Amino acid sequence: MCGIIAYIGPRQAYPVLIKGLHRLEYRGYDSAGICLVNQHLDIYKCKGKVSDLEKFVADKDTSGTIGMAHTRWATHGEPNQINAHPHISQNQKLAIIHNGIIENYASLRSELINRGYKFKSDTDTEVLVHLIEDIQTQEKLDLEESVRIALNQVIGAYAIVILSEDHPDKIIVARKGSPMVIGIGKDEFFVASDATPIIEYTNNVVYLNDEEIAVLERNKELKIKTIKNKIETPYIQKLEMSLSAIEKGGFDHFMLKEIYEQPRSVRDCMRGRINMEKGIVHLGGIREYEQKLLNAKRIIITACGTSWHAGLVGEYLFEELTRIPVEVEYSSEFRYRNPVLYEDDVVIAISQSGETADTLAAIDLAKSKGATVLGICNVVGSSIARATHAGVYTHAGPEIGVASTKAFTAQVVTLTLMSLQIGHLKGTITRSRYHQILTELDTIPEKIERTLRMNEKIKEIAGIYKDVKNFLYLGRGYNFPIALEGALKLKEISYIHAEGYPAAEMKHGPIALIDEQMPVVVIATKKGTYEKVISNIQEVKARKGKIIAIINEGDVTVKQLADHCIEIPETEEMLVPLIATIPLQLLSYHIAVMRHCNVDQPRNLAKSVTVE
Ligand code: AGP
Ligand code: GLU
Repeated sequence: MCGIIAYIGPRQAYPVLIKGLHRLEYRGYDSAGICLVNQHLDIYKCKGKVSDLEKFVADKDTSGTIGMAHTRWATHGEPNQINAHPHISQNQKLAIIHNGIIENYASLRSELINRGYKFKSDTDTEVLVHLIEDIQTQEKLDLEESVRIALNQVIGAYAIVILSEDHPDKIIVARKGSPMVIGIGKDEFFVASDATPIIEYTNNVVYLNDEEIAVLERNKELKIKTIKNKIETPYIQKLEMSLSAIEKGGFDHFMLKEIYEQPRSVRDCMRGRINMEKGIVHLGGIREYEQKLLNAKRIIITACGTSWHAGLVGEYLFEELTRIPVEVEYSSEFRYRNPVLYEDDVVIAISQSGETADTLAAIDLAKSKGATVLGICNVVGSSIARATHAGVYTHAGPEIGVASTKAFTAQVVTLTLMSLQIGHLKGTITRSRYHQILTELDTIPEKIERTLRMNEKIKEIAGIYKDVKNFLYLGRGYNFPIALEGALKLKEISYIHAEGYPAAEMKHGPIALIDEQMPVVVIATKKGTYEKVISNIQEVKARKGKIIAIINEGDVTVKQLADHCIEIPETEEMLVPLIATIPLQLLSYHIAVMRHCNVDQPRNLAKSVTVE
């Protein structure tokens, strides 16, 4: 969702805010805006990207040592200049930026209109700033108290920052359901939707909790209270992120950098968790819940998008290794259909960002029904990591490209480790098989590295198919979720329509789409249903479809049939997703670049979807 940054301290605020917006731009890029407090509130905003805002303010006065800025992912009201944040109160004295959705905005809006307020924008956000002004003037309350009372009337999700012309040394911040981090420097404070814009200034941070309001004042201690008026002591944590982890490091795009990071991120995900000599997996985060997993009658995996695809791989893994039945649920469906849940069910929620609103709601629902909920998250300290009973971090490092790549492989590694460990403890796999898989897992980073060497070949293939209108992706077994993921990657960043299917399902419908224009990407690695997949390839060939096959090194059978082959190293069937997904990421990447698409910030998308 949107990106928020604010600053108060001795520095000039504008450079800090603009740099911060650039770092947060992956969260939303419909419009950008800024507010600096001087004699008045200086507000500049425009449609488009942060660079458009920079051009817009180039000849304006941007001085000031307190300010806030926003990059929007529109939910209410089209992406234009008027709907861009900040929004300002009727008396022009208060400004607000907001991430989230005010669900009861329509009723609040009509009440405020009846009371004489004139709305400029179509956003839900604007009601909040008028509401605060109304409370302040009607009830003659100070700003903090007015904000608190206003927030008690709001239904929905918010992370907000408020600046006031009358309080040029104060920032008010609050959150519910949308993330907010406060950075504490020497005589200065930073506020942001995530830690990426803060890390270069300080690593002392406070994660604001739901329904908390923080007051940041020049030369004063940070104050936090809840919207129910309970004073809280700020809990200061140390950030362990490095600046280089959030920069492009010589790559043209974050997505490419993140694809290439996978040998390392996969290794980091396993680091300290596998003891090869003793032959054990150690997942500290869920240690206390191992027994729950061992006794689980059922595992329900819930997630969205790419994380849901990782969940599907998890289904195959858990069922094969632990013999526990698994269901994989879209969080957005699960949360609204009154699912049957028992106390001996274990729910595993998977999320890169740890902020996805639907997944958070699914977790709350599962908890309310008494199930144990474990998390698999990448972002440390994120809402999902905190909402679950326990969990495992994927340690892939910050993922900035909107299209998820390294987070996906790390999620699959985590699921592999979890299911292996439970299978081992349960005795549903033999000790020797357990060791065999662990030993093979250890070779995956090197095999990913070898796969990355296919880059030039993949680029050539991308050049041939970059202008087609449709793509089909086929895979079976463990490779079926990879077909789905390959198709999603292509859709997201190149805007080419793509579908992923279990290869054998093709004959039940999608086969009608195949003609000489249709490229079909088939994951045809050895083991499993290899022979069957070859028949599926024949079926496509018979209808003149073009085959791009992902095959194992040295495979000659498929080579004779396919139009193009991308060779990847052989591995255990259950580990193939970790390797087979790499060429599909690269294929989408190159096609998108050749189509001049904005790879890191595809249209209409946002990195973390904090609205339902
Ligand atoms: C991935 O490429 C997507 N941008 C999207 O599907 C994403 O995986 C989904 O929104 C879930 O996000 P999360 O993992 O942060 O919860
Ligand atoms: N709901 C608000 C809007 O549409 C905030 C969106 C956001 O989080 O960027 O303006």
